[in-house]
Amino acid sequence: MEKELYLAAGCFWGAEHFLKQIDGVTFTEVGFANGHTDNPTYKEVYTDTTGYAETVHLRYDPLRVSLRFLLEMYFKAIDPTSLNQQGEDRGTRYRTGIYYTDPADEPLVRYMMSEEAKHYGLPLQVEVLPLTNFYRAEDYHQDYLVNNPDGYCHLPVELFAYARNNRDTGTVQKSDTYRLLLRQAEALADGETDRIALMSNFAALLHDALHFWWTGFYRVVGDELLLGPFQGPVACMHIGYGRGVCGTAWQQRTTLIVPDVEAFPGHIACSAASRSEIVVPVYDGDTVVAVLDIDSQHFATFDDCDRHYLEQLVALLCRP
Ligand code: SME
Repeated sequence: MEKELYLAAGCFWGAEHFLKQIDGVTFTEVGFANGHTDNPTYKEVYTDTTGYAETVHLRYDPLRVSLRFLLEMYFKAIDPTSLNQQGEDRGTRYRTGIYYTDPADEPLVRYMMSEEAKHYGLPLQVEVLPLTNFYRAEDYHQDYLVNNPDGYCHLPVELFAYARNNRDTGTVQKSDTYRLLLRQAEALADGETDRIALMSNFAALLHDALHFWWTGFYRVVGDELLLGPFQGPVACMHIGYGRGVCGTAWQQRTTLIVPDVEAFPGHIACSAASRSEIVVPVYDGDTVVAVLDIDSQHFATFDDCDRHYLEQLVALLCRP
């Protein structure tokens, strides 16, 4: 499982050199994003009339590094309040931007932007948009600072050491915990056919290992979700189709990650302490028969790492 992201951070030579050294980043290339001409060359982009931003395309392993960590690193490498200028480089091609290809990433990007904005008394100038197009730059721009160690760079060298010396230990540890938990869940599921009994133990297993605020299941019963086995405080018992995060995940048949529950229209607040949430549909064949819902007291707790392992976990509930 790999994810990708496009980050514009001023001159792409330094930006690539910085981002590629983050543990969990598996691929980088530099190019031009979100402009309006075909096959732009560096020279054309340099005229500042093509609409393109110098951009780093990166791929990463979400089981080793989270989008949140990547964005924290990204913000260290830019002045987010500066419009069309980073270091001494000026022009729209040097604007900053976060361009995503997975729409599911947008809520977290927006949450991180609002958190970052709190550090400044000024509005942030970083674009947050879906990627509309990207063209790889000429070869001599790729890995520029590896091939030209004394080449121009607008970023301080200490930043490169920072990227090398820090890793997303939270995500690495979370992956380890989930892997162990999955083995335990497999043992519990072995030969067990009663779904409610299994849900009960899975809720207990998750609660013990990860200590989230509320961890439990809602089962599809008739035309609604009915509260099932859970760990945590008293919760609402009935949720309609398409209602709240749970009913929406059921309706859309997809895992939903909500970094800030207040920003999710129609969120059902069973507990005022809940800040972020993940809901994973449980399938029996093609039919959604339940959802796993986990709430956290902290913002932006869940990411693709949780999604990856929790989807495997709930698949154990309905093994033939
Ligand atoms: N917040 C959920 C309701 C369930 S409680 O979180 C346990 C939702 O919006 O669907």
